[in-house]
Amino acid sequence: MRILAIETSCDETAFSLVEASGGLLRPTFVILENLVTSQIAIHQPFGGVVPNLAKREHLINLPILFENIQKIIGKKKIDIIAVTVGPGLEPALWTGIGFAKEIHKKYFPKAKLIGVNHMEGHLYSFLLSEQKKTVNSNFQFSIFNLKSLFPAIALVVSGGHTMIIRMDSLTKRGKLGETRDDAVGEAFDKVARLLKLPYPGGPEIERCAKNGNPQAIQFPRPMMYEKNYEFSFSGLKTSVLYYLRDHKDANINDVAASFQQATIDVLQRKATRAIEEYNARSLFLSGGVAASKALRETLKNTCNKIGVGFFAPSHQYNTDNATMIAVAGYINFLEKKNRPIKANANITL
Ligand code: KG4
Ligand code: ZN
Repeated sequence: MRILAIETSCDETAFSLVEASGGLLRPTFVILENLVTSQIAIHQPFGGVVPNLAKREHLINLPILFENIQKIIGKKKIDIIAVTVGPGLEPALWTGIGFAKEIHKKYFPKAKLIGVNHMEGHLYSFLLSEQKKTVNSNFQFSIFNLKSLFPAIALVVSGGHTMIIRMDSLTKRGKLGETRDDAVGEAFDKVARLLKLPYPGGPEIERCAKNGNPQAIQFPRPMMYEKNYEFSFSGLKTSVLYYLRDHKDANINDVAASFQQATIDVLQRKATRAIEEYNARSLFLSGGVAASKALRETLKNTCNKIGVGFFAPSHQYNTDNATMIAVAGYINFLEKKNRPIKANANITL
């Protein structure tokens, strides 16, 4: 079935067109188009996302992206329109939902409109990790013997969330823990601001960290050894603040590398603990922070060492995109999950 997906929960306006097949046993996705317009340049002067500016930009970008994707849809049938309903910025969410309803009525009245949880999009994006090119040179994603991956542990690390989830199957799961304060991506963004680096901070910190010494400064590893799956990153950010206050000649690259290492150590320790406690066969890493090469490499090596599979989406599907919304929309459709098509800024997994 053909899925048209829309994502506008934060500062990315995204559209995707995906051909999905295979059901819950072997979900297979051919990506016909994946369009993302980032608003980074607009929010950069404010050091973070401004909700009403995001709304205004989504309203400008949505019809432009739709016009482009319409060229690929042509006269083909659309079976599902999947749209993010939350969590996210409420004014931003409504723009995508309103647009989805409009095109549903006008162009694809026979399609099923499905409201998708953005975090489920990130969670299921591990299904976008094993790719091969199809005859039309589109990418096809499918995981061989999906069933053998479970039980699995999913680590979802984004700008708004940090969660560890136990997955017994594709559709059966339980949240083990999450952050008590800042999400890990948020900590990267805040520390970047302290270092006078532009928004979003994650890629900037990673760039500086490459030239720094991760052992130079011993920043705290909050809650690392606590026997639970909760996180706390705001104290770590405060430690960086105090360090910079007390060391006017601080080497920015060393600070970036040492901060990055502290977050990686905590995520690695908690993920390993969960894998061991639940006898997991695989680890799924996703969310914007999963774009960090340093984090991916560390977790991949850890998984290799302890003999479990490691799955993380291909690069463009870590940060916000609509392909992951199409993937979650397909699974929601198969599960007959029906969410109200209205913005819900605070839904969780
Ligand atoms: O998933 P995402 O695009 O949006 C949310 O749903 O929040 O995640 C964005 C977050 C930002 O905080 C950004 O700084 C972080 O992902 N990020 C990174 C890297 N690339 C993006 N964090 C660490 N290292 C990176 N390379
Ligand atoms: Zn996200």
